[in-house]
Amino acid sequence: MTAQNIYTFREDVLHQKAQPVDTFDAGLKTLVDDMIETMRVAPGVGLAAPQIGVPKRVIVVEFGDEYDETIPERLFVLVNPEIIQQSDDQIVGIEGCLSVPGLVGEVARAQAVTVRGQDQRGKKVTIRAQGWLARIFQHEIDHVNGVLYTDRTDRIWQPKDEDMDTI
Ligand code: NI
Repeated sequence: MTAQNIYTFREDVLHQKAQPVDTFDAGLKTLVDDMIETMRVAPGVGLAAPQIGVPKRVIVVEFGDEYDETIPERLFVLVNPEIIQQSDDQIVGIEGCLSVPGLVGEVARAQAVTVRGQDQRGKKVTIRAQGWLARIFQHEIDHVNGVLYTDRTDRIWQPKDEDMDTI
C-alpha cells in the first residue's frame, strides 16, 4: 500500500470520463490498496481512481458516523459503480473535496441512492445508502464521470474551520 499524490481540479484527468474495468487482476488490487492508503493518509472518507491520476472507474469509501455509534465504520470498494436508483427528495449539504483543496460548497444531492458495481474480484454488489453515505457515493461516482462538486453549485467558499469530512 503506497499513498499516492492527489491530483487536483487543474488536471485533465479530473474532468474526463474514466474507463470501465474489465480485468480483475493483481494490478487492480494494487490500485485499490493504494487508493485506500491515499484516502486514509489524506484523510478523506472517499476517493476515486482519477484523483490519483488513474482514469479507471474505481472508488473507495470509508465512513463511520462519529455522532451515531450504531453506524460502524465500513470500507467499501466499488469497481464500475453506477447509481441505479435515487430518491426524489434532495438534501442540500456542504462538501469539500480532496481535489479542490481549501474550499467547500453547498450541493444538493439525492437523500438516498442504490448503487451497483463489482467488488475487487468482479462479483456484483448492490449497496443502498442514505444521508451522508449516499452523498459520498454520489460525489465519488461523479469523479469517475469527470464531474466535480464545483460543477454542481455556485455556492463555494473558503471555510473558517476545516473540521469536516473531505470526499
Ligand atoms: Ni472529491
